[in-house]
Amino acid sequence: MTSSKPMLFPSLSLAQMEALARYVGSCLRKGDIVTFSGDLGAGKTSFARELIRSLSAKNVQVTSPTFVIMQSYDVKLADGSPEQLWHLDLYRIKNEKEVQELGLEEIWPHVTLIEWPDIIKNTLSKKRLDIVFNFVPFKDSRKLSFTGDDYWQEKLQSFEETA
Ligand SMILES: Nc1ncnc2c1ncn2[C@@H]1O[C@H](COP(=O)(O)OP(=O)(O)OP(=O)(O)O)[C@@H](O)[C@H]1O
Ligand SMILES: [Mg+2]
Repeated sequence: MTSSKPMLFPSLSLAQMEALARYVGSCLRKGDIVTFSGDLGAGKTSFARELIRSLSAKNVQVTSPTFVIMQSYDVKLADGSPEQLWHLDLYRIKNEKEVQELGLEEIWPHVTLIEWPDIIKNTLSKKRLDIVFNFVPFKDSRKLSFTGDDYWQEKLQSFEETA
């Protein structure tokens, strides 16, 4: 990862976080990977759901993949190209053998969102965006911290300037 320091959004309401999710969605290209880490129940699925909805046909249902582990969606990227988007939740994956059984090599050419990525993090391409979600004490909002390669640094900078 070429980036130095993470970009911080110290207190985002659900609506503000969803606006950022739609923006990240609009920047996605074929092959992109976004990871979601941090506190349990801090908003990872909510972010992914809004991102997926913004790239999907109306009325698509996005449920948490905690139990199914991986779920795919037909989306349209910002340039209009149809693509497969995979939403993963690796919380329940506990060892290398279980990772192998997922057949992840098939999905990397598409677009991948990964909740609880720690078990595979050191095998992931460095060309990606990592988002960490944390609770904000005494507030109904969340702190989001973004670390990405040069492409994502530039995109997030532009979002911050227009926000
Ligand atoms: N920015 C936010 N501000 C306030 N509430 C939020 C925000 N983001 C999410 N929430 C709420 O937090 C709760 C948990 O959200 P969500 O299921 O998305 O978390 P998660 O990180 O995916 O959980 P898990 O760790 O179990 O995968 C939901 O009720 C959701 O509406
Ligand atoms: Mg979740």
